[in-house]
Amino acid sequence: MSVCATSMRKLFAGCALLVLAQAAPAAAEDLGLGVVPTPEQIAGWDKDIRPDGVGLPDGSGTAEEGEPLYLEKCAYCHGDFGEGVGRWPVLAGGFDTLSEQWPEGRPEKTVGSYWPYSSTLFDYIWRAMPFPEPKSLTPDEVYAISAYILYLNDLVEYDQRLDKTNFAQIEMPNRDGFIMDPRPDVPIPEKPCMKDCPVDTTVIGRAGQVEGATPGEDVQPAGIEMYLGE
Ligand code: HEC
Repeated sequence: MSVCATSMRKLFAGCALLVLAQAAPAAAEDLGLGVVPTPEQIAGWDKDIRPDGVGLPDGSGTAEEGEPLYLEKCAYCHGDFGEGVGRWPVLAGGFDTLSEQWPEGRPEKTVGSYWPYSSTLFDYIWRAMPFPEPKSLTPDEVYAISAYILYLNDLVEYDQRLDKTNFAQIEMPNRDGFIMDPRPDVPIPEKPCMKDCPVDTTVIGRAGQVEGATPGEDVQPAGIEMYLGE
């Protein structure tokens, strides 16, 4: 299952797919559960935006266009300048704080100081913000608001137009601050397999029964199978 560790954006989707691919035939035979998803259902789910920009929709925006939108829809939690109101997340600044140690200092992880890819900003806002009304923004609005947040982090100009051709090319300051998982039992493939990958997995155990989580003494959960790739 080494493909799981190769890409932040595909991490969950990749792992989930592999496990499902393993588990589906058995579940279908035994329990008659599940249906084959339609291409439309897969398209609705497969909308993540990769660090190389694949997945970015048509549309565009500038920080100038994004400022009023941000002030209306985001600032009451994240602050007019991304400084965060109360304990809502800070979105701007914090540069050069990541190596600070408590109690002398405190790392301030923001979009500008911490995030390695600008694509994550679009992807995140597109899916999850504004917090009380996720998925309410159009692509143009997400481009514009993202541009404004990048502008607050001094990463784009106020009138710089961002679209799917240039959005992912913005170089984030902390892009080299992430390392591959150094644990010896976590394989690092030289080239991630994206198609017809060899499926070589072993069931290594089952998650234990959760105390008190089952409806009755006689009803036992099937347990969750755990798979470990070679
Ligand atoms: C009601 C308060 C609220 C509003 C309004 C809101 N957010 Fe958020 N935002 C949150 C919370 C809470 C989180 C953290 C969510 C989590 O960690 O699951 C968050 C997280 C974020 C993050 C990720 C921060 C990080 O470093 O992890 C971004 C980027 C963001 N919001 C952008 C926006 C944008 C853009 C808007 C407006 C379109 C917006 N938010 C509106 C509350 C809000």
